[in-house]
Amino acid sequence: MPPHEVRPGITWVGAVDWDRRLFDELIPLPDGTSYNSYLVKGSQKAALIDTVNPNKGDELVSNLQKLGVKRIDYIISHHGEQDHSGSIPRILELYPEAKVVTNEKCKELLKILLHVSDDKFHVVKDREALSLGDRTLEFIIAPWVHWPETMLTYLREERILFPCDFLGSHLATSELYAVDEAKVLDSAKRYYAEIMMPFRPHIKKHFEVLSGYKIDMVAPSHGPIYNRPALIIDAYKDWISEVVKNEVVLAYVSMHGSTRLMAQHLTDALIVRGVHVKPFNLTVTDIGELAKALVEPATLVLASPTVLGGAHPLAIYAAYLANALKPKVRFATLIGSYGWGTRAVEQVTGMLGNLKVELYEPVLVKGKPRNEDYEKLDRLADQILDRHKGAGLVK
Ligand code: FEO
Repeated sequence: MPPHEVRPGITWVGAVDWDRRLFDELIPLPDGTSYNSYLVKGSQKAALIDTVNPNKGDELVSNLQKLGVKRIDYIISHHGEQDHSGSIPRILELYPEAKVVTNEKCKELLKILLHVSDDKFHVVKDREALSLGDRTLEFIIAPWVHWPETMLTYLREERILFPCDFLGSHLATSELYAVDEAKVLDSAKRYYAEIMMPFRPHIKKHFEVLSGYKIDMVAPSHGPIYNRPALIIDAYKDWISEVVKNEVVLAYVSMHGSTRLMAQHLTDALIVRGVHVKPFNLTVTDIGELAKALVEPATLVLASPTVLGGAHPLAIYAAYLANALKPKVRFATLIGSYGWGTRAVEQVTGMLGNLKVELYEPVLVKGKPRNEDYEKLDRLADQILDRHKGAGLVK
């Protein structure tokens, strides 16, 4: 995508990665992504805010050439991960006068990850300012969104926040701004779930700091820019709050159909009780959609058959994922079918140590469920409704 002017003298010069379908060889990217880099020119100095993934370095360089950029004084590096930092060595070759402006922790990461030499850095501290002449960059150290070295930049005169990964979205689009707000929010929620959710307590603290800043625009390093910052800030405040919904995420896998029958019965039993339910068949589930679904439900139910004495590997993966992402779910349990013996309950519940959940009585069935087993699932649905009511989630 060619350069886009955000404000006079502030230009998007990044790259849109339309085709990328996997991040960190882990996270599916159904809508691609972008690596946003911004050139900010002051009356005396010019700063490049973040770079792009190394495979898109040509596009960044081409955009700088299209703008006729002869000199870059500062490369602001918010975060050591290579999708933003990976083109720093190339920019330093083209603009040898540039200094990499970052904090001490990020400097150490850039040295080990990219072999940037010590003399190339200008190290800044929390709330330190850097003048570009008639423009001033202020750096806010904001660890754990999502690495320990992350920081944000606030452009004082225009009141623009550049938060790098924080508040971003994996969404390739030719629209510079969040025009289709519903679509952007959906992508941002998925991104939050996959990348930021484990760090909710840190995000709360960062919002306390940011409440002292007037923000007219949020320009992240992935996805569209928010020229209506409340769109993303208010959404984040909901996601990180302690409020959960009258909702169950039911992640299931079935080998010969018995666990599927149980999952289907529980789904219907919840629906007739007015509990919203999102079933995910783990054999076909997009793992990002499952992560997104975990942002706000009150209850997580895993459903698994027993294989080789324990839960199915897909159920183990779902439990691992839920535990790693640390959603704010309050209740959980396991249901499933087994043939002659099982350790699935101890195994799966033992994997949820990060979640502060109250456990419902598991429902395990020998073979294909019978009427009395369906009745146990009805009792589980009753319990779920009761707990949700007790938590004030049912009107
Ligand atoms: Fe977009 Fe953590 O890098």
